[in-house]
Amino acid sequence: MCGIVGYIGKKDKTVKVLLSGLKNLEYRGYDSAGIAYIENDELKITKSVGQISALEEKVEDGIETHIGIGHTRWATHGHPSVENSHPHHVDKMTVVHNGIIENYLELRNELKGAGYEFKSDTDTEVACALLDSIYKKENDMLKTIEKFKKTAKGSYALAIMCADDLDHLYVIKNMSPLIIGVGDNENYIASDVPAILEFTNKYIVLNDLESACISIDEIIVYDKDGNKRNAEVKTFSDDASVMDKKGYEHYMLKEIHEQPEITKKLIKKYIEDNEISKLPDLSKYKNITIIACGSAMHAGLVGKYILENYLGIPVYVEIASEFRYKKYKFIDENSLIIAISQSGETADTLAAIKIAKEHHAHTIGIVNVKESSIAREVDEVIYTEAGSEIAVATTKAYLAQTIVLTFLAIRQNKEVLNSISTQDFHKIPTIMESLINNDEMYEDIAESIKNREDIFFLGRQIDYALCMEGSLKLKEISYIHSEAYAAGELKHGTISLISDETPVIAIITEEDIAEKTISNIKEVKARGAHVILVISEELDFDGDCYDVKIVIPSSEKSLHSILSIIPLQIIAYKIALKRGCSIDKPKNLAKSVTVE
Ligand code: G6P
Repeated sequence: MCGIVGYIGKKDKTVKVLLSGLKNLEYRGYDSAGIAYIENDELKITKSVGQISALEEKVEDGIETHIGIGHTRWATHGHPSVENSHPHHVDKMTVVHNGIIENYLELRNELKGAGYEFKSDTDTEVACALLDSIYKKENDMLKTIEKFKKTAKGSYALAIMCADDLDHLYVIKNMSPLIIGVGDNENYIASDVPAILEFTNKYIVLNDLESACISIDEIIVYDKDGNKRNAEVKTFSDDASVMDKKGYEHYMLKEIHEQPEITKKLIKKYIEDNEISKLPDLSKYKNITIIACGSAMHAGLVGKYILENYLGIPVYVEIASEFRYKKYKFIDENSLIIAISQSGETADTLAAIKIAKEHHAHTIGIVNVKESSIAREVDEVIYTEAGSEIAVATTKAYLAQTIVLTFLAIRQNKEVLNSISTQDFHKIPTIMESLINNDEMYEDIAESIKNREDIFFLGRQIDYALCMEGSLKLKEISYIHSEAYAAGELKHGTISLISDETPVIAIITEEDIAEKTISNIKEVKARGAHVILVISEELDFDGDCYDVKIVIPSSEKSLHSILSIIPLQIIAYKIALKRGCSIDKPKNLAKSVTVE
C-alpha cells in the first residue's frame, strides 16, 4: 500500500534517498509515484504513473537540494493518474499522505467555499488545502498541525513541506505507520524502517496523533496534546541485506527457502529441554477469538483446530474487518483475543484489537514486525522472527505464524508435550529442506496445470485451513481462479464444476479424517478430475484415485500442519513463473494494508 519517504540533510544526497527509499517501498504495492524537493529556492514536483523506473527517467541527474519528500501511491480516491499521485501542492503546502481522510468531502466543500480549487480526486489534496488554509490564519506550523488534528477525521501519515520554512520537514501520524530515521546531520522520514535501512537503522516511532518537526540536526516530537516529549531512538535489528535477493530470481523464492532456518530459530527460541518456554499459559480463558486478515487469518484457522484440540475451549476465528462491525462481540474479561499480523500495521486488525480492549479482553499479538503498531497495542506480544518479508504474497511469515500457534497449543497440553521429543522438533527443518528441494516434481505439476482457469483445493479440518492458504497463494500470484473447499461440503454444489481434467489438490495429514477425505477424492476422480494428493507419509497409500502424489516425510503428528503448506507455496510460485506473472508484486495487491 502507499509508502512515504522524506529526507533533510546533504544537498547531493536528497534525490538519491528519495528514489532509493521509494524503490525499497515498492514491495508494499503501488500504482504511481512522485517526489517533491526545493531546487534553487524553487519547489519542483515530479510524478509518474507505473513503475519507479518511469519516475527515475523523468528526474534529472545532479539535482542539488537539502529537503524532499516522496510517495508511492496505491489508489483509493481516484484512479491512478499523474493528477492523483502525490506529492500534492496547494500554495504554501506540499504533502505526501498515507491513509484516508474520512471527512474529505465535507472539508472539500468548505474549502471550495473559501476559494480553493482542486485538480485531483484525492482526499490528500483536501488535506493539503486544509493545512494551507489553517496556516494562513495561524502563521505557525505547530499551531496549524494541532488544528489540523482536530479538523481532519480518519487515518493519516503526513509528511509536509511548508514554503515559509524550508529548514524543516513536518510530520503528523494517526492510525497509519510513520517513523523518523535518525542520521548524523541528516534525518529521514519513512512509512517503514526497511525503506531507509541502507542509510540508517536508528529510528523514532510516532504514536497516534503525534507530530514532529525535523531539521538537519534536530528532531522534536510532540505528543497528542501538542506538548514536546522525549522520544526514544531505537535500533532496527535487520540490516540492509534484507533487500538483497541473494541470487534468487524472486523474493518469494528466497523467502520460501528461508523457512527451514526460521523454523530452527523458532525452535531455539521457544523449545528448551522439551519444554515450551516463553509462551503464555492460556488455561484461564473461557474462550479465544483469533482476529486477522488474509493469510494471517488462514494461519489463525490452523491455530483454531490445534488450540481447540489441545486446550478444550472454543476458539473462534474472525476476519478483522468483519469483527469490528459486528453488533455483538461476545467477548469479555474472560476472553483472550489473539491478533495475528505479519506487518503489525493492518488497519482492520489494529482497530479490532482496540475494540477488544474496550471489552476488557486480554490481547496477545502474534506479529512479525517488531515495534509495529499492533505489537505496541496488544497486552502481550509473541514475535514470529521471520525477518523482513518483501514478496507481497506471504510465505515465511505465514509459516512462522503456524509454527508459533502450534507451539502455543502444544504448550497448553502436558500429555501432548510429553509425547513429543526434542528430536521431533529438530527434524522439522530437515524435512522442510527435502520438501523444498524437490524441484523436478513441482516443475511437472506446474506444467500440467499451468493453463487451467480453475483449480480446487480439498481437505478437512486443519487440512481445509491449509487448503485455504494454498488456494489464496495460487490466485494471488498466478491469477488463476481457485477455491478451497471443506471436502465434505463439495457435494453440496461445487462438485458440479468438476469435469474432465479439472485440477484438484487434496491434502490429507490427519489420521482421523483421512478415510473421509479419500472418499471425497474418489468422488471428484470419478468425474474426471486431475488429482494431486498431498499426504503425510504415515497415511500414504497406493491407489488410482489420484494422478500425482506428494508425500510429506514422516514427522510427529502434532507438527504435520507446519509442513504441508510448503508444496502448495512452491506449486503456486512455479505456475506463476510459467505464466509470466509479476510474482513479487502481483497486480492490485499490497503488502501492508494500512487502510480499512
Ligand atoms: C495483505 C497481504 C497478505 C496478508 C494480509 C494481512 O493482504 O498481501 O499477505 O496476509 O494483508 O496482513 P498482515 O500484515 O496483517 O499479516
